[in-house]
Amino acid sequence: MKKADLPVAVLDSGIGGVTVLRELVKLMPEENFIYLADSANAPYGTKSTELVREITLRNVAALFDEGIKAVVIACNTATGAAAKTLRETYDLPVVGIEPAIKMAADLCDRPSVLVMATPLTLKQEKFIDLKNRFENAEDMTLLPCAGLVELIEEGHTDDGVLDAFLERLFEPLGDKKFDAAVLGCTHYPLAAAGISKRLPGVRLFDGSAGVARQTKRRLVSEGLKRPEGLTGTVEIRNSLSDEEINRTVRKYLYT
Ligand code: DGL
Repeated sequence: MKKADLPVAVLDSGIGGVTVLRELVKLMPEENFIYLADSANAPYGTKSTELVREITLRNVAALFDEGIKAVVIACNTATGAAAKTLRETYDLPVVGIEPAIKMAADLCDRPSVLVMATPLTLKQEKFIDLKNRFENAEDMTLLPCAGLVELIEEGHTDDGVLDAFLERLFEPLGDKKFDAAVLGCTHYPLAAAGISKRLPGVRLFDGSAGVARQTKRRLVSEGLKRPEGLTGTVEIRNSLSDEEINRTVRKYLYT
């Protein structure tokens, strides 16, 4: 098999990475993808950096042994924990995702930005460095959303259960107004409709389309891109071997 025909591995703790996978497939339908939802270890965002790094390295090692040509870490939490080590370990393009602060900060002059992410993402050095690069960082409000990933995994993406959860989550913010909100976890765009109800008129940003474009750039520059016009494949699996999870990923991928 030619190296270009090997699959691109796309990883997340669960179904959330499908928000990145669908951008990848839209942009490069000719590529072969393996999507791994690591449901056995979800959620990542309330674990330690060391543990998420160890889990991610283990998952990538297994996929590498099968044969892959690139890795897309479709998880903000795992990117912060493991991207650097993966790049040091493997001679493969490794593309990660980080909260789309730049896009939100460019919305208008000194926007007030809400950043929603997992507790671990917001604590990581990588995120703190990113945030400090913006001169209007003091207008950023960080909202660790422990529990939101689990609700989305359970299908509460726009219902009363999500509304009640968000009501409690947003309580400490009082009536603070925002121009933009960053969905800094790949699960959250799946609940964009429900989140928007809590943030009327606020523009939501996520980095999934940017990750797809970056992956394409890397494949092209490494000579690993399949020619356009071919038909690629998408293999979806999860570490619990639960067919229901695969069905959910497929539903989001093709709707
Ligand atoms: N989708 C992951 C992210 O982007 C969720 C992490 C988790 O499992 O808590 O951070």
